[in-house]
Amino acid sequence: MSDVLVLGDAIVDFVFGGVERYPDPGEEVIAPTYELRPGGSAGYATMGLAALGLCPSVTAVVGDGVLSTHWLEFLETRGADTGDVRRVDSEPISAAVAFLHGSDRSFLTYRGASGAGRPVDPGAYDPADYDALLIAGFTQAPYLWTEATVELAERFDRAGVPVALDTNRSPGDWRPTFETLLPSVEYLVINDEEARWLADESDLSAAGHALVDAGAGTCVVKAGERGCLLLRDGTRRVSTDPVDAVDDCGAGDFFNAGFLDARLDGRSLEVAAAFGNRCAREAITRFPVREKLSAIGSIRDD
Ligand SMILES: Nc1ncnc2c1ncn2[C@@H]1O[C@H](COP(=O)(O)OP(=O)(O)OP(=O)(O)O)[C@@H](O)[C@H]1O
Ligand SMILES: [Mg+2]
Repeated sequence: MSDVLVLGDAIVDFVFGGVERYPDPGEEVIAPTYELRPGGSAGYATMGLAALGLCPSVTAVVGDGVLSTHWLEFLETRGADTGDVRRVDSEPISAAVAFLHGSDRSFLTYRGASGAGRPVDPGAYDPADYDALLIAGFTQAPYLWTEATVELAERFDRAGVPVALDTNRSPGDWRPTFETLLPSVEYLVINDEEARWLADESDLSAAGHALVDAGAGTCVVKAGERGCLLLRDGTRRVSTDPVDAVDDCGAGDFFNAGFLDARLDGRSLEVAAAFGNRCAREAITRFPVREKLSAIGSIRDD
């Protein structure tokens, strides 16, 4: 069994599914489905890794209210170690309202505790205790935008423990840390829009290669129903069976969990990418998070 240290954002997601249209100011619209989820990229990736039978330890920042307790307990019940999650009393846990509207998603987020946390202490984590480090939702977690995160990633990289980074795309002053981090990152796992934007290059393949030239070992570009691209020496597409998503919240994080699991299991980049595609597809065709996780767990048992 592998241990993955997950750093990132803890967010409680209030997900409203099947929304026909967004409410106008002053108006009420009724949603046919709803779920409160202990998510954020770190939350989704951690529960995905645990569903696959790994032993993730998560480091994030939460508040001291009941929603923070719910976030922690949900992940602990799934088999994750939350001992390093810090609780602050100045802010509640980050919260987001997600509207699922056709194939569109919109979020309204309050950053709360993720914006109030202190930097990680790089000395607190011995790379020898882990098989991988996953930095998830980097642009959503301001406490990570410091030299301390770079130092932690460098220590893991030097020890030969792979570092995976998923930025997502959220506003803030994180780019200098991102650029310093890249040389320690073995797997930069981002989506197509993020790749173009991070590299400031409209051609996707050129964007991925620019990020590899900037230091990333392999750039894995998630591309929705087209699967993903692997960019290292060349460009390889790993396609998937397109489906109509009922809920693609966390799709990228469940992909990351599957990709890392397969890599830690010694699989090739292509096989790991195909497994990431499959985990994400199982997740997005179901609404309740418990059903997503049991579907991911069953493909691992195949
Ligand atoms: N319609 C679809 N059919 C099949 N697979 C899909 C579909 N949409 C997404 N996926 C799978 O989910 C993966 C991640 O989705 P996407 O490319 O949207 O990443 P992302 O933008 O990082 O996700 P997130 O919004 O969770 O951050 C894709 O690489 C693909 O494997
Ligand atoms: Mg993403």
